[in-house]
Parts: sequence; C-alpha cells; structure tokens
Amino acid sequence: MEVIITKDYDEMSKAAADVIAEQILRKPNAVLGLATGGTPVGTYKELIRRHKEGKLDFSKIVTFNLDEYLGLPTTHDQSYHYFMYDNLFSHVNINPQNVHVPSGTAVNVEEFCEWYEDEIDKAGGIDLQLLGIGGDGHIAFNEPGSSLGSRTRMKTLTEETIEDNARFFDKREDVPRFAITMGVGTILEAKKLLLVANGEKKAETVAKFIEGPITSQVTASALQLHPHAIVILDEGAASKLEHADYYKWVYAQKPKAMELLHG
Ligand code: PGA
Repeated sequence: MEVIITKDYDEMSKAAADVIAEQILRKPNAVLGLATGGTPVGTYKELIRRHKEGKLDFSKIVTFNLDEYLGLPTTHDQSYHYFMYDNLFSHVNINPQNVHVPSGTAVNVEEFCEWYEDEIDKAGGIDLQLLGIGGDGHIAFNEPGSSLGSRTRMKTLTEETIEDNARFFDKREDVPRFAITMGVGTILEAKKLLLVANGEKKAETVAKFIEGPITSQVTASALQLHPHAIVILDEGAASKLEHADYYKWVYAQKPKAMELLHG
C-alpha cells in the first residue's frame, strides 16, 4: 500500500486528481470506479478544472459508481446519481451512455446486482477505483461484518453511517436504511485502488485500516490485500498512524526509487 500524506484537503484533492488524470491520459477509454461523499468533491473539482483547461478528455471514459441508496430516484437531490451529475458529470464531456450508477429503484434488486457485476465484466473490469472511507471503516457501503469476498448486493446501513450522512438530509429519519453496493470482492478486482481521507475525525479509522489487522470489521483493511492500492491523506487523517514518518520518507525517496527501477 502506498500511503501519501499531504498538507491539507486541497493538496489531497490535487494529488488524487493527479492519479486519475494520469490514468485517463494513459488510457483515454479507461474504466473508472467512482465514489460519492464529502471527501472526493475537491478531487472532482480539480478534474473539472483540468477538463475546462483542455487537459482532460472524458469522451471515451466509462464509469461505475460504488453504491446508491435504495428507495431514492435519480431525481432526488441526495441520490448518488444526482450527486455524480452535480459534482462531476454535468461539467465534463462524459457520454451519459458510459455512466453506471446502481439503481435506487430497481424492482428486482438481486437481478439488478447481477446485471451490474456483468456490466463491469463486459467493460473489461475497472482500471482505477476511487474510494472514500466511512467512520466505521466501510468502503462503499460495505459495513462492518461484510464478507471480504462480497459482490454487489443490498446492505443495511449502520446507525453510525446513518448518523454521518444525516447532515445531507433535512432530518435523520429521511436517510435511507438500505443501499445497493459493490462488494469488497468486486472492489478488490479493480486493477488499481485509490482511497482518499481527510480530517482528524477519520484518524483512528485510517490507522486501523492501514496498520491494523485485515478484518471484515473494518472493510477498508481489505486494501492490504491489493497489490496496487494508493491511500492519500491529509495531516489530520494521518495523525494517528504509527509509521507516518516512514510513509513520508518513502514518498520523498520516490524519484530516486523510480530512477533505480526505470532509469
Ligand atoms: P465522506 O464519506 O467522504 O462524506 O466522509 C465517506 C464514506 O462514507 O465512504
């Protein structure tokens, strides 16, 4: 796992945008896995900025979002479908036919989940998956106890997640209890993972998933199993890491390491 510690939210967002931009430039028809939540908003803003400057073309990019609340139609302003158009898709030249967000109104949820997995396969798999992390250690809506081999399915949200997300709704009771989410197993099949986290509030959870044991109680810890996982943090989120100095040292040595590897 490559852990990059940046100064603040802005730097974290720019560093994450660098990784995504590099993927798009290297493979203009890349398949991107995308995330919602407060954390990636700055990353999307930076991608939009680069697109407007003519440096990033999304016309052949294919996307799959991690999750969606069950019960919210795409027109609901708290649906993740709505979020993605609001925060990214409406501002870049993406082809709506290439966009996939799980349906919050699927009639047959199990069939839908199977279809979603098939679509990812048909697209050739996800090249780069962007992730946030919940206060309870979840990636996507894989709440504590989710199998590390799980596939796209319905999940019941934890009280903590409902509480965390209540800030986006008029009242707590409005937060949906259920979601459709890619599984941990689905996420681990992406060729590359990029997790972003900021703020001291996340520090304990971040320390657990990076330096603690691999456990379904902290589903983000499954990243330890992935050969190409990058984690970008700000100082606050990194503040409880035991080996923060080492991660910073490794990052400072990166140009030298690259030179040794590639000349
Ligand atoms: P946040 O959510 O970015 O709003 O903190 C992260 C998550 O729950 O995955």
